[in-house]
Amino acid sequence: MNSNSDSVFHYHRRTKHSLQQYANSPASLDWDDQPNGFRFFTGCKLFNLPKPGAEREVLFSDLAKSRPAEKLNQATVGLLLELSFGLSAWKQFGPDRWALRCNPSSGNLHPTEAYLINTDAALLPTGVYHYQAYQHSLEQRCLFEQSIENKGIFIGLSSVQWREAWKYGERAFRYCQHDIGHALGCLRYAAAVLGWRIELLSECGDTELSALLGVNRSADFKADEREFADILCRIHTEETSQFYELETLVQAANKGGWQGKAEPLHQYHLYQWELISQVTAATEKPRTESLPLQPAAFLSTAPLAGEKTATQIIRQRRSAQNFNPKSTLAKSKFYQILAATLPEQLPFDMWTQPNNLHLFIFVHRVDDLEPGLYALPRNPAKRSVLQAATSEKFEWQAVLDAPLPLYKLLSANCRNTAKTLSCHQAIASDSAFSLAMVAEFFDTVQGAAWQYRYLFWEAGLIGQVLYLAAEAAGVRGTGIGCYFDDSVHEILGLTDETFQSLYHFTVGTPLDDSRLQTLPAYAHLDNLT
Ligand SMILES: Cc1cc2nc3c(=O)[nH]c(=O)nc-3n(C[C@H](O)[C@H](O)[C@H](O)COP(=O)(O)O)c2cc1C
Repeated sequence: MNSNSDSVFHYHRRTKHSLQQYANSPASLDWDDQPNGFRFFTGCKLFNLPKPGAEREVLFSDLAKSRPAEKLNQATVGLLLELSFGLSAWKQFGPDRWALRCNPSSGNLHPTEAYLINTDAALLPTGVYHYQAYQHSLEQRCLFEQSIENKGIFIGLSSVQWREAWKYGERAFRYCQHDIGHALGCLRYAAAVLGWRIELLSECGDTELSALLGVNRSADFKADEREFADILCRIHTEETSQFYELETLVQAANKGGWQGKAEPLHQYHLYQWELISQVTAATEKPRTESLPLQPAAFLSTAPLAGEKTATQIIRQRRSAQNFNPKSTLAKSKFYQILAATLPEQLPFDMWTQPNNLHLFIFVHRVDDLEPGLYALPRNPAKRSVLQAATSEKFEWQAVLDAPLPLYKLLSANCRNTAKTLSCHQAIASDSAFSLAMVAEFFDTVQGAAWQYRYLFWEAGLIGQVLYLAAEAAGVRGTGIGCYFDDSVHEILGLTDETFQSLYHFTVGTPLDDSRLQTLPAYAHLDNLT
């Protein structure tokens, strides 16, 4: 076993929550010094994007169907960024006011930052831009001095780990990765609204990506608040040419003119989380072989229903904070939501890695379906391996009327169990169903330590599908990062690290909190000069 994988296994074990003890986190929080969820670069040129809030007629249920790609221009790039990372609303409770975004985030702390790399001079001067969600604008970090043959756009994502670590301590690295997975999902759905596709340029190594995004420019960031490069995506618009060369982009960034410094996010840094630095180093991704984008025909246009437009669904997405325990979910909707997580559905055409995650579902309140524990192997070929690894008491009885490979493992009222497993949160038991995403863990991480991050990205991607599929079905979901890892494994009968649960999710009928006021996403832009 190599030492990077060892470090990852160590990190993973040490950041498990258990019934006896939560993973290490700060003993107290200074809420007045919460890290700013918005990053601003000062000293660089600002380009305001066209007014946010544009609508498109395409229905959410039609997103996977192919249709003409929209032209690349500032309005379409603005819409892509807004529907992926922009604001969706403000919430107010008494004197407290906070922004919500199209992408969800653990604790609403938003570690993910997005960069646009533009090589099309007709769109904007070519260079690297930071997307500033608060003002819906682009901060020009780098102006390319050489022209590049390929005309198009790329989006790079990075994480400010400190934003999560401030609250969640050592487990925060996991949450940053979940958030990247959600962000990728957001990007793919937003691109689909425009008839565009996303290619994950997973061949890119972290060192070259850091240089391209400028996050390696340590003098431009407060030391504790640096960003870590995660992934580069190529956006396939109508105009994208086939030619693309990572070296050319990185070279243009290296030779380009950089401007701006990141404003501090936070005043005091009382804690240093050495374990996060270790796992970050251990999971650094080298350059690897490029994996081709799936052909467009790969997508199945099956099963989402609903009459709402995609822009409506994306902007109305919220996390449910409470569920109505008296409501039930129609079985057809249950199947529809789960089927959306299968690898032949949008957004998984962008996912060129193996599908390593499978769902174990606690069914609480689904009409005409016995409450109990169910399994959905997302790769049907893995069913027997999952069966062999889990409790021998499980029935693995195929649910015959389900249009997906769903198996009943046992009939039971699992509400209390689900609640306890998810750190005693009632959202896991008052819902229609909650679930654990179980990864093919040991072999994947042992093969390449950086794959640890990809496993969480895949989990976040599935989470984003569940969020939007739930909204489309007229219900609501919530990601659950807080769960007792080994208690989940015990319930499933998993006895070693071959499989590990990496994320939980819950879906049901939300109960709205009438004390909270909802305000429009971008009214503040009217007051900005
Ligand atoms: C990775 C992840 C983990 C989360 N874990 C929890 C959780 O354990 N409990 C909870 O109530 N909400 C959880 N959430 C929901 C966030 O609190 C929510 O996304 C955030 O407050 C922003 O609100 P919004 O989703 O309505 O935009 C999680 C979200 C994500 C993305």
